[in-house]
Amino acid sequence: MNAAMASSAERHVVGVDGADDFEGWRAKARSLAAGGVAPDRVHWSCSAQGAFDLFGAGTTAPDPLPPAMRPVRANKAFLDLAQSVILHRDPARFALAYQLLWRLQAEGSLMERAADPLVHRLTLMAQQVRRDIHKMRAFLRFRLAHDGDGGDRFVAWFEPDHHILRANARFFLDRFASQRWSILTPALCIHWDGETLTESPGADRDEAPPEDGMEALWQRYYASIFNPARLKVATMVKEMPRRYWKNMPEARLIPGLIAGAQKREAAMVALGSAPPLRAPPASLKDIADGVALCRACPIGCNGTRPVAGEGPAGARLLIVGEQPGDCEEREGRAFIGPAGQVLDQHLAAAGLDRSRAWVTNAVKHFKFEQRGKRRIHQGPTAGEIDHCRWWLDAERRLIRPDVILALGASAGRAVLGRTPSIASERGRMTHLPDGSRLWLTVHPSFLLRLQGPAREAEQQKFGKDLAALAAQLQARPTTRRPPLT
Ligand code: URA
Repeated sequence: MNAAMASSAERHVVGVDGADDFEGWRAKARSLAAGGVAPDRVHWSCSAQGAFDLFGAGTTAPDPLPPAMRPVRANKAFLDLAQSVILHRDPARFALAYQLLWRLQAEGSLMERAADPLVHRLTLMAQQVRRDIHKMRAFLRFRLAHDGDGGDRFVAWFEPDHHILRANARFFLDRFASQRWSILTPALCIHWDGETLTESPGADRDEAPPEDGMEALWQRYYASIFNPARLKVATMVKEMPRRYWKNMPEARLIPGLIAGAQKREAAMVALGSAPPLRAPPASLKDIADGVALCRACPIGCNGTRPVAGEGPAGARLLIVGEQPGDCEEREGRAFIGPAGQVLDQHLAAAGLDRSRAWVTNAVKHFKFEQRGKRRIHQGPTAGEIDHCRWWLDAERRLIRPDVILALGASAGRAVLGRTPSIASERGRMTHLPDGSRLWLTVHPSFLLRLQGPAREAEQQKFGKDLAALAAQLQARPTTRRPPLT
């Protein structure tokens, strides 16, 4: 029997392996509950990374767990809740979660009683953790640094409220698998070298690199899409709390933009136009990098992988869709899912070579609604399309296509600045102010939503539209406009 037990033979000192050790807590909580050990007889002690010590048990060795005397029940609602709660910074979290497990054994429907004080408290804690996870995904900013071997490494500084860093690592791994990166926080740092994820103790803010060129680009973009007429300071601060601003390059502009908003709004009203665009991105890579950082609208903030355009820089044909879908978001490439397959088949049948076109979307992030495990596509709003138009305009300026093939109304809006009627404007060339031409047709996913003869008929119309476009391109084979210098 160790020192802690000597003072009270009834008490169990139980150790978990780190501030976010859900699996360790779960295994031990299960054994304790199976052994009939009531919560007031348990001391939870946390060791290793980010260590804290709940009851001054510090160096005390954990006690052996009691033998199992009864089965333990824990439903999914409880486990989901506990998994988030264990990441909370409240030192009592292990004990509180165990109290809930203990009561659950006698009160089968406890999880459904939202007004129960313990359920309510833990639900709030879980919400705070989930919000912190979301904020980290949305507001973390990587800066370019260099490793000892001279290679690139992206480094970000972040100060989470809760112990969420490890829980969030998979998200950044999935999105930046081929880059080398580090995320530094005060309690713990994680590092990815392209193959292995490693950890090191917490860091200081000045260990993160200073500003780089991407910040200037991002500031330019943010200033240009900032619409003083729509400024709602309270909403903005709610969505992007002030405590994150210090690590976000664009946030430095906010006080000035707010201060100047009234003046700029008056000027805009007088001009009857949106504010002029500032210096646009200088290369397609700048656009892809900028899109990855873009948080100008709620879709950009939803933590999904950005999908930039792709294709040859000198493409004569630019194809615009609506927004990436589930498959596109996973792979980070436009039109590779079911709608992409329909598009590929019809392009090939019309004699249009997709590999020679620039393929992009009106909106560069995936908007969806989570239903269980499924992510259900949600169309972007007109405002979201208008925000993202800045990036499409930049692509158009650099690629200088002869023809833009817009698939569906969202794509049409991104090109024209107004939502077109597909029925009356499809299948004819529209001359655009920049000298390029627009060819509008339906979106391939419209075909996928139809059945039987209706689908057959619409497929034929889509095929005809693309064949007519191919004929137009052939009739004027040399009209690609020279790139801007
Ligand atoms: N739909 C689109 O509009 N774009 C894609 O990239 C995929 C599906």
